[in-house]
Amino acid sequence: MNIRRAEAADLLNILKCNLHNLPENYPMRFWTYSALIWPEISFLAENEDGKVVGYVLCSIERAEKFPHQWVGHINSLSVLRPYRRMGLARQLMDMAKDALIRGTILIEYIQLHVRKSNRAALSLYRDKLGYKHHRLEAKYYGDGEDAYSMRLPVTYMK
Ligand code: ACO
Repeated sequence: MNIRRAEAADLLNILKCNLHNLPENYPMRFWTYSALIWPEISFLAENEDGKVVGYVLCSIERAEKFPHQWVGHINSLSVLRPYRRMGLARQLMDMAKDALIRGTILIEYIQLHVRKSNRAALSLYRDKLGYKHHRLEAKYYGDGEDAYSMRLPVTYMK
């Protein structure tokens, strides 16, 4: 298994992985935007055949209520089913966190949204990575499911 930075050339393969794993399928222009603007903060895992089996796609945005502040966003994380429970998501998230902290832009916290029913991801974020519940966002997803907005303050990570 090889875990490395994701590049623009990887986008189609990342998209395939995303379509297998999640109902939230961003348009290609969103993936391209993230990869081109923030090439150093997204990562992928590829198997020995070079197939993308997991990825984490990140961006850095201005804080909603405090536009002078910057926030790291975990936009999408997934691992193909046969490769789960091997620690890949945790490694991808750790690499993304390190890259977000090391970057030239000072971020206040890292943020993500997760479905209320997603027990696996909630356990990863809350129990393993230290993310805290920020608020519930009603009907956040297209199918009407609520999301938990979760945050990891930068001070927490140092
Ligand atoms: N049930 C309960 N807890 C789980 C499960 C599960 N099925 N899978 C992972 N976890 C938790 C555990 O705490 C685990 O630690 P442990 O193995 O010591 O118990 C921890 O996550 C780390 O597990 P990893 O092996 O690193 O996780 P994995 O590589 O299997 O990927 C993921 C987890 C990404 C949630 C995977 O199940 C997946 O791709 N699911 C579908 C897509 C998805 O839900 N993505 C997250 C959406 S939210 C977002 O994108 C911001």
